[in-house]
Amino acid sequence: MPEPAVLFVCLGNICRSPLAEGAFRAETERAGLNVRVDSAGFEAFHSGDPPDPRAVRTAARHGIDISRLASRVATADDFWRFTHIFAMDHRNLRDLRSIEPRGHPAHLSLLLDLVPGREGVAVADPYYGVEADFERTWADVVAAARALVAGLAT
Ligand code: 4NP
Repeated sequence: MPEPAVLFVCLGNICRSPLAEGAFRAETERAGLNVRVDSAGFEAFHSGDPPDPRAVRTAARHGIDISRLASRVATADDFWRFTHIFAMDHRNLRDLRSIEPRGHPAHLSLLLDLVPGREGVAVADPYYGVEADFERTWADVVAAARALVAGLAT
């Protein structure tokens, strides 16, 4: 088995996937797992930018600093560099499938496929919402992060 390396993907890489990255990194540290973690997006609008201030505040309320992350665009090469790639919603999954190289070894699925009872469900985009929507995103990404860590630890 290769060392696990996990990539979270959304549209802008400033709201959902940085929150997923922060939540998952915290859970791996808590579990003593050594896993490479990153996140990426599909639109370059925010390339190089830190996460949305509402996402930074939401993670901070849960004791996690994501302020130094920087948005980047997902690439075909990511399929060779990561063992697990998680899309936040169906559009992200379609976008990933459109650049997926033939024969890559990565596992690709929706993030909430990890959470029993939430399979096939999207992490709602909080970008046009309010802080409470970011808290809902946080709850979703933490549930998935815990399930993933439990799976990787066994
Ligand atoms: P994210 O949210 O995909 O969770 O990072 C969005 C961020 C930016 C935009 C849309 C969604 N945008 O249209 O700029």
